[in-house]
Amino acid sequence: MPMFITLEGPDGSGKTQQIQLLSEFLESRGSKVYFSREPGGTEIGDQIRDILMDLKNTSMRPRTETLLFCASRAQIVEEVIKPKLAEGYIVILDRYADSTLAYQGYGHGNDLQTIRQLLNFATDGLKPDLTILLDLAPEVGLTRRKQGGGEWNRLDDYKLALHKRVREGYLEMAAQEPERWRILSADQPIAVVQSNLQKIILDYLE
Ligand code: TYD
Repeated sequence: MPMFITLEGPDGSGKTQQIQLLSEFLESRGSKVYFSREPGGTEIGDQIRDILMDLKNTSMRPRTETLLFCASRAQIVEEVIKPKLAEGYIVILDRYADSTLAYQGYGHGNDLQTIRQLLNFATDGLKPDLTILLDLAPEVGLTRRKQGGGEWNRLDDYKLALHKRVREGYLEMAAQEPERWRILSADQPIAVVQSNLQKIILDYLE
């Protein structure tokens, strides 16, 4: 049965590793699974990702950034997600449209309604069947970062405020659409998060 699953959450919440384990689990149960990440996931999307990540692009404006995330997404929707769903795959994406609402909207303060319209255009209205938020308190993530060494600086403080808004945004979106969203604490051992994740998917499939 085709299904479109997205994982959302802060940087370092372990989404990538959890998706790999989850896809192995679903494949072992006989499903065809395709997973990818955003931004990127296509040749064109990876080029857009390079522009977005390039440290020398310090002058990038918030609207430019928002449109580039949307452009990468438009490409993966048409080139990968729609065809794979049509072939009966379970498609799992590491971040999708909700990341743009969380980061560019709630995080950086761009108008949410405008972003929703842009996302609707970029995705051609394609919504995930299920979205799982790997929820983690920003303080926990940043404590891990502190323990990893290095000097604490002004940008880290900025990041804490930003990540707090991003998290609140995620929780608000989850509350607005409870039938699509599930919230899972990422502040647990990898194996525990994975078994909870598997349970969520199996419950949904039943
Ligand atoms: P990435 O290196 O893929 O990290 P992660 O493992 O956290 O996903 O970085 C993606 C970064 O881009 C992450 O900080 C979130 C941000 N982002 C947005 O701001 N808007 C978006 O629409 C997407 C997809 C990502």
